[in-house]
Amino acid sequence: MVITIDGPAGVGKTTTAKRLANKLGYQYLDTGAMYRAVTYFFRQNSVDISSESQVKKMLDILNLELDCTSNDDMKLLLDNKNISSLIRSKEITNAVSKVSALQAVRERMVKIQKNTAKNGNFIVEGRDIGTVVFPDAKYKFFLVADYDTRAKRRLKDFKRVNEELNVNKIKQDLTDRDQYDSSRKLSPLKQANDAIVIDTSNCTIDDQVNQIYKHIERN
Ligand code: DC
Repeated sequence: MVITIDGPAGVGKTTTAKRLANKLGYQYLDTGAMYRAVTYFFRQNSVDISSESQVKKMLDILNLELDCTSNDDMKLLLDNKNISSLIRSKEITNAVSKVSALQAVRERMVKIQKNTAKNGNFIVEGRDIGTVVFPDAKYKFFLVADYDTRAKRRLKDFKRVNEELNVNKIKQDLTDRDQYDSSRKLSPLKQANDAIVIDTSNCTIDDQVNQIYKHIERN
């Protein structure tokens, strides 16, 4: 079974998805990390993302493996090298929206996502999981939070990978990225009609997880 968790950056999707996966004994698939991995790969190889043929050629040789079995972060191996923390840098964060808007990239990633989660129980988090990737999922959640809360959470994420940023700059980046992700032509960030919205602004992680858990238990 697949449970989808969508929403913009900094609303607590990742921590919630991981905790929920642990609680339910499910695997956890972080699709944002996949788009980050492709962005990392393209930057390593100086790919011109305005060239469709170059993008397609590089996707053909992309050797990305996912390990969703860990109780902690999903592991990403690019040519057998663990790039899980390298994809969290400011540089990748700033570049990923444009890469994730490319049709060839989305087609390839969605295919991997469907294949990965088709056998087994998965919590899948992203932006288009309830709308495009798994529109028939039984449980769909869409997380939201106010900008102050989201910026503070992102600040913590950056500190974890030793990057210093100012909270106002992060707020601006979040606004820009939301605007870009929500208005792109392909699979924009959008709440599925049948998703349950959870506002995490004043929630602890435990609250968020429990709200979702209770909903699943009830239904
Ligand atoms: O959740 P995140 O910040 O790691 O996501 C990185 C980027 O990938 C974000 O700009 C939106 C994009 N993304 C997407 O387009 N579709 C998804 N299913 C997941 C993420």
